[in-house]
Amino acid sequence: LTAEAYPKVKRNPSFKVPTKDDVQYFRSFLDFDEILESSNSEELASFNQDWMKKYRGQSNLVLLPKSTDKIAKIMKYCNDNKLAVVPQGGNTDLVGASVPVFDEIILSLKNMNKIRDFDPVSGTFKCDAGVVMRDAHQFLRENNHIFPLDLPSRNNCQVGGVVSTNAGGLNFVRYGSLHGTVLGLEVVLPNGEIISNINALRKDNTGYDLKQLFIGAEGTIGVITGVSIQAAARPKALNAVLIGIDSFETVQKLFIKAKNELSEVLSAFEFMDRGSIECTIEYMGKPFPLVNSHGFYVLIETSGSNKRHDDEKLEAFLSSALETKLIAEGKMAKDLDEYNLFWTWRKSVPTACNSYGGMYKYDMSLQLKDLYSVSEAVTKRLNDASMIGDAPKPVVKSVGYGHVGDGNIHLNIAVRHFTKELEDLLEPFVYEYIALKKGSISAEHGVGFHKKGHLHYSRSEIELRFMKDIKNHYDPNGILNPYKYV
Ligand code: MLT
Ligand code: ZN
Repeated sequence: LTAEAYPKVKRNPSFKVPTKDDVQYFRSFLDFDEILESSNSEELASFNQDWMKKYRGQSNLVLLPKSTDKIAKIMKYCNDNKLAVVPQGGNTDLVGASVPVFDEIILSLKNMNKIRDFDPVSGTFKCDAGVVMRDAHQFLRENNHIFPLDLPSRNNCQVGGVVSTNAGGLNFVRYGSLHGTVLGLEVVLPNGEIISNINALRKDNTGYDLKQLFIGAEGTIGVITGVSIQAAARPKALNAVLIGIDSFETVQKLFIKAKNELSEVLSAFEFMDRGSIECTIEYMGKPFPLVNSHGFYVLIETSGSNKRHDDEKLEAFLSSALETKLIAEGKMAKDLDEYNLFWTWRKSVPTACNSYGGMYKYDMSLQLKDLYSVSEAVTKRLNDASMIGDAPKPVVKSVGYGHVGDGNIHLNIAVRHFTKELEDLLEPFVYEYIALKKGSISAEHGVGFHKKGHLHYSRSEIELRFMKDIKNHYDPNGILNPYKYV
């Protein structure tokens, strides 16, 4: 799988190959459990391999420091000695951003896992970058708040990694982007300097907002070691409804209606096409909660502070949507178990698509009117080339799902194996299609290795030049996350 999918790039000869002496130096201030270095170890392999099993690095050295000061010392040494470094969070990224390409040292944030502070009055939450998102959620729940972002990978992804990726997640429609909710960051620069505004206040209008550069930079200009973020009050009432709809046009009409009628309690509006659910039924081995089959499925979540009020709103919304034939079938979660079950269906779609062997994955922003058209265009193209069907055809299914509320579609092409022929059919076709519609080739998964060289489909020449200038300013030796998008 990996060998065929891995594009050819050349190792940059100006980077030093890590030696025993380098390891010796790291051992002088790191504990035994902060270094991993056997080339045969299975554990080491898991740091080299991405979640989709599409990219595999060749690093023989993982450093897992427990403090920001140690990270600063590591970075200074690596910069002085031209040792390339890949920062890594939970390694759940979807674009090959968090694994090495050659022998880069993997700098894992795994041991930076302490919650630093929480202020229940302002809702400001501060933690180390390596705190697993599930643990941040758990801590905040116990303190009557929620982390302002949730993802299918919450049990493994880390707060710093999510900020580095600028992930959007499942409740973006309510809580917005990390560019708004992150209050401050602590970052180690490639030369070992620490830049921190982690104690920033909610409002701070004192010149350039430097932290924004690191949000979504994918560890190319600094290593995020601490995050301060605005937590939201924990909703007391949660509702979810699963809906079957026959066309994407009707999905859009229902979205307008939801915004108007559910307004302040609307906290998610997700869609899945029929293929997404078919894959997930196969993967979960259970019947789907709706009785009939539909072209599209929508999961609406409401969350608020008064259950009776929210229930009334949602029931009125559903009955009028049924009456006006906007929805073909709907089911409201009867309790918290069913609410969780509905979400499990949605959150399992990516894993289900990845369970056949691998997947080609695209994450795009488009005007809502065009959102699903990219999926139709790709499916037609694959069908015309006789690529989809029973084995030995490479493609099991091409499916579209995502966040209607954010104009973001995920296109997953579930495959039995990767082939060059298939990749050539998909790329640059997908990117050209997105450019034509003036969309973005990455809505929330980032750029990484996968979309390296394709940024011009969404960014102008001058924007690309500015990105390079910024990279060169912060990382003149280019040692941080090399071979990736910038
Ligand atoms: C999602 O919306 O499920 C996430 O972005 C992850 C994915 O698409 O694989
Ligand atoms: Zn998503």
